[in-house]
Amino acid sequence: MRNIFIYKDISELSRFLNDSDNVFVVIDSNLKHLHSHFEGCNMIEIPTSEQRKTLESVVEITGRLLESGADRGAFVLGVGGGITTDMAGFAASIYKRGVKFGFVPTTLLAQVDASIGGKNGVNFESYKNIVGTITQPQWVYICSEVLRTLHPKEFRAGVAEVLKTFILFDKEQYAAAVEYFSELEQYLASTGSYLKKGEFYKEELLLEIIGKCAEYKSAVVERDEFERGERRMLNLGHTFAHAIEKICGDTPDYGPIMHGEAVAIGMVLAAKLAACYYGISSDFAQQLERDLKSVGLPTAVPSDKNGRQMPLGMLVEALRMDKKVAGESIHFILPKRVGEVNDVLVPLKIVEEISCDLC
Ligand code: GLY
Repeated sequence: MRNIFIYKDISELSRFLNDSDNVFVVIDSNLKHLHSHFEGCNMIEIPTSEQRKTLESVVEITGRLLESGADRGAFVLGVGGGITTDMAGFAASIYKRGVKFGFVPTTLLAQVDASIGGKNGVNFESYKNIVGTITQPQWVYICSEVLRTLHPKEFRAGVAEVLKTFILFDKEQYAAAVEYFSELEQYLASTGSYLKKGEFYKEELLLEIIGKCAEYKSAVVERDEFERGERRMLNLGHTFAHAIEKICGDTPDYGPIMHGEAVAIGMVLAAKLAACYYGISSDFAQQLERDLKSVGLPTAVPSDKNGRQMPLGMLVEALRMDKKVAGESIHFILPKRVGEVNDVLVPLKIVEEISCDLC
């Protein structure tokens, strides 16, 4: 996907919205403060939450497109975090057998990951992202301005995906990103904000990191759009993460957890699993734990209200529900170190056996 545009300000977006009558903005209902940037466009506000990431919501968007008179020449613009962009992209890709669409991701996680790649999915029953399409947006408009109002917890969830991408592809960028985000956390601790004079502390550096990350993701997608091989690597940390998210969703005692937080924990578990599986030292898992902590991310499975850690048996049960299960084995992306990561089919039995070493 070559059409990723990176700016500091949201105001440049007006250049992309000339034919505003024909633009149908599917926007998270929490983003009213952004409405002025879509003058003349048709606005479709949708409430977003993981629980609402459903076929029913996609049907609702479809109904609203129809009501608003969207024809085959319509352009759907998804504005919000990953849940909004996923649902907007899915609705656009099936509405009148497919209309063009674009995204303005407004969270760090959506900018570096969810809005890029063309997977537009929703949850079904207790399965995450199990129904959807792979259809590419025409363009993605990324700007740092919209990130300035994010809560640190939400911002950090995106940092997990940034570090994941660099673990896969770029040792130097990984080190640089850990350094920047740790500094940013120290700045937050000393000033109470990520912002300095209204902009992120060292915002140019943040934009550079976002740009690099988006570039890596879109390059992988170009080489392997339908996830036959290389694209699977992007699932680093996600197998455990989806299991943790599922448990937190089903068992309110543990939740709520953000996707990025679960990915951070999932990456540490994957690094520990790699150490056990290959019989190598756990130095990388320990380094990763330190790095994730320094950028404010969690590294251990959540505990319930009484301080009891999520049992590993529960995690293994949840793993069995994953899309990546093949018989009695499951695909894990196992990192030995930054830049050395493999896609391995691991028997669930082995995960069960070594589960005591994972936490
Ligand atoms: N929409 C996220 C992806 O395609 O990976």
